[in-house]
Amino acid sequence: PKAEFVADLMAKMTIDEKIGQLNLPTSGDITTGAANSSNVAKNIEEGKVGGLFNIKSAQKIREVQKVAVEKSRLKIPLLFGMDVIHGYETTFPIPLGLSCTWDMNLIERSAQIAAQEASADGINWTFSPMVDISRDPRWGRVSEGSGEDAYLGSQIAKAMVNGYQQDDLSKNNSILSCVKHFALYGASEAGRDYNTVDMSRIKMYNEYFPPYKAAVDAGAGSVMASFNEIDGIPATGNKWLMTDVLRKEWGFKGFVVTDYTGIPEMMAHGMGDLQTVSALALNAGIEMDMVGEGFLTTLKKSLAENKVTVEQIDNAVRLILNAKYDLGLFQDPYKYCDVKRAKTEVFTTSNRLEARNIAAQSLVLLKNEKQLLPLKKSGTIAVIGPLADAKENMAGTWSVATNMDKSISLIAGIKEVAANANVLYAKGSNLDYDAAFEEKATMFGKTLHRDDRTKEALLAEALKIASQSDVIVAALGESAEMSGESSSRTNIEIPQAQKDLLQELLKTGKPVVLVLFTGRPLVLVQENETVPAILNTWFAGSEAGTAIADVLFGNENPSGKLTTTFPRSVGQVPIYYSHKNTGRPLGNKEGNFEKFKSNYIDERNEPLYPFGFGLSYTTFSYSNLKISSEKMNFNDKINVSVDVTNTGNYDGKEVVQLYLRDVVGSVTRPVKELKGFQKIALKKGEKQTVTFEISVEDLKFYNSDLEFVAETGQFEAFIGGSSDTENKVGFELNK
Ligand code: IFM
Repeated sequence: PKAEFVADLMAKMTIDEKIGQLNLPTSGDITTGAANSSNVAKNIEEGKVGGLFNIKSAQKIREVQKVAVEKSRLKIPLLFGMDVIHGYETTFPIPLGLSCTWDMNLIERSAQIAAQEASADGINWTFSPMVDISRDPRWGRVSEGSGEDAYLGSQIAKAMVNGYQQDDLSKNNSILSCVKHFALYGASEAGRDYNTVDMSRIKMYNEYFPPYKAAVDAGAGSVMASFNEIDGIPATGNKWLMTDVLRKEWGFKGFVVTDYTGIPEMMAHGMGDLQTVSALALNAGIEMDMVGEGFLTTLKKSLAENKVTVEQIDNAVRLILNAKYDLGLFQDPYKYCDVKRAKTEVFTTSNRLEARNIAAQSLVLLKNEKQLLPLKKSGTIAVIGPLADAKENMAGTWSVATNMDKSISLIAGIKEVAANANVLYAKGSNLDYDAAFEEKATMFGKTLHRDDRTKEALLAEALKIASQSDVIVAALGESAEMSGESSSRTNIEIPQAQKDLLQELLKTGKPVVLVLFTGRPLVLVQENETVPAILNTWFAGSEAGTAIADVLFGNENPSGKLTTTFPRSVGQVPIYYSHKNTGRPLGNKEGNFEKFKSNYIDERNEPLYPFGFGLSYTTFSYSNLKISSEKMNFNDKINVSVDVTNTGNYDGKEVVQLYLRDVVGSVTRPVKELKGFQKIALKKGEKQTVTFEISVEDLKFYNSDLEFVAETGQFEAFIGGSSDTENKVGFELNK
C-alpha cells in the first residue's frame, strides 16, 4: 500500500510541488546558523516545503502542520526536524560523555527517552546520531560524537538508531533518525571546523565508515551529508559517496538531507553557481536541501536544460514521501502534536531520574590519589570555580530543546546530596582573563555572568572560603560553547585564569578535587601532576549537578571509561590508540627518546590518559587469561577469557575490553583494535570470568582492493581495563 499510495499522490503533483517536497527551511525559532528565513508560511501554503526544523512546541507545530494540510493544494503533511542530540528537555550527557558509559542499554534508553519527549512535543525527526569518528580534540565537534573508535562508535550508532526509531516508526513515540555527517567530517585538517578532509579510501573503509554503515544497517531513516570535501568533491555533491557507497554498497533505502546551506556552500568550495551545485547535489544522490533553497530555485530550470532528470526528482520525492508515510503522517498529520502529551511526557520526574543515573555513569575518574574520593557528606566543603554555579552550561553544546534554567548546577547538586555539609561557594576566577574569548565561549545564552571584580579580588574571596574548609572542590574547565560546532581550539588546556586559580588553591595545602567540565579531551599534564583527584564530568546534562555529587560523595562509584585519547600536548594530535606500528617503532616502554625512531625530541609518544582508561573507587585485577584454542579456521569460533576480581573496598563496575592485533597482513594493520567489551558489576571481593567469542568476522578488514577479508596468520588477543593493556595471548587463523 505504501508504494501505491505514494505513486498515486505523486501522479497528482506538479513539478513545482515535487521540488517543494525537497525543500527544508528553518523556522528560525532556534538559531543553528545564519539563515535567510524567507516567508515560510506562504511557501508551505504554496506546496514549496517538505519539512521544517528548529521550531519548538506541539502547539506551534500543530499550527504550522495545519497550514500544510488545510491550505496547500495536496495537503501533504510536513516533517518536523530538530537537533535532539542528547535528549530533549531532559538532557543527557553530551554524546562524548554518553559514550563513556560503554553501556549500550543506557545509551539506547537515552535515545528512547529523547524520542518520547520530542515526539510528545511535535517533533518527528531528529538530526542524530552524530557518528563522526574524530581523533583531533582541537575540533569542537568531538563533543557530539562517540570518540575515536570505529567499533565502539558502530555499537553506539546502532543503539541510538534503535532508541529513536524503536524498529517501528508507526508508534507515536518513535521518531525518524538521521545519521550524520556523512562522511568523514571529524577528520577536518588541523581540527578546524568545516576544513578540508583528505583521506585514503582504505582508511575511510576501515576506520571512519563503520559507524555510518552500522546506523544504516540498523535502519536509520535518513542521512545528513557533511560539509567537507572527500577526494576533492564536497560530500553534498559527491556521487561516489552518496550513490556508490551509501546506496549501492550499503543498500540505504531512506533519504539524504544536506547539512545547513550545504548546497550553496559548494559555490564557495569552487564548484560553480547555485544552479550548477544544486544539480550536482541531486545528481550525486541528495534528496533534501536544508536551508539552501538551491533545489527550490534552480531545479526546474535544470530540468528544462536537461541537467537533471524528472526520474531523479521523482526518486527524491518518493523517498521523502515514504518517510512521511512510515511515520504515519498521512493517516494523522497531528500524530505528534498532542498538546496533552507535551504537558505530561516532557521533563518528567522519572525521565530526570534516569538522566541523573545515566549522567553518573558517564563520568570518568582520571586520578584519585590516596582515595581522596569519595568525599564525606559532612564538614565544610569549599566549591570554587566559574563552572560551580553555571546551570546554563550543564547541558553542554547542541542541546537546543533543553531548559537551561532548570538544569542543576554543581553547587545545587552538592547541596542536595550532601545536605548536612557546610557548603561554601566562590567563583574564584572568570572563565578566562580574556573577556572577548569568554564572549565567544558563552554564546546562545550559556552565560557565565562575567564578574567585573579584579582577579585579585576574586582570588581573595576564594582563598578565604578555602581556608575555612576541609576540602576544596574546584569546578573548572571549558564552558559549554567552547566545544561543539564552530568551536575549534588550538590550545586545548584549561583556560589560563582557571589554571592559575587551581594552583593557588593547591598552595593552601587543603585537599583539592578537580571537577572538570569539558567537551573535548584536554591537555591536563600540569593538573595530573599537581592535583590529587580529577573527576572528568564532560557536560552531563540537565541533571549534571546531582549526578556529579552522587559520584563525589559515593552514592555512585564511577565507572566511565574514556572513548577518546587525552594527549600530553597538542603537538601529539592526532593521537589514537589504534595507530600503526610504523617501520621504526620505539624500542622501549619507558618512552625514552631514541634517535631515528618514530618519536619526538620534546615529548613522549604515549598520551596522558589512553582510550579505555578510567578509575573506580575500587580496584580490579585481571588474571588467568586463557584461550580455548591457539588455532582456528574460517568456520571456527574460539573463546578468550579472563578472571576479573574486585580487589578494593567498594562494589563497582568495570568495562572489560577485548583488543585484537593482526600481526602480519597484506596491508599494515593497527597495533590494537577494540573488538569486544563487557561492562560487568562486581561486589567487593567478587570474581567473575569474562569470556569473549572470536569469529572470523572479528578478524576481517578492508584490504587494498577494498575487499572485506580475513587473512590467515598470527593474531594476538588482549584483554584489560584500558587500551594500554599488555595482557595478551596469541592464536593463528588457518584456511
Ligand atoms: O544538524 C545540524 C548539523 O549537525 C550542523 N548544522 C546544522 C544542522 C541543523 O541544525
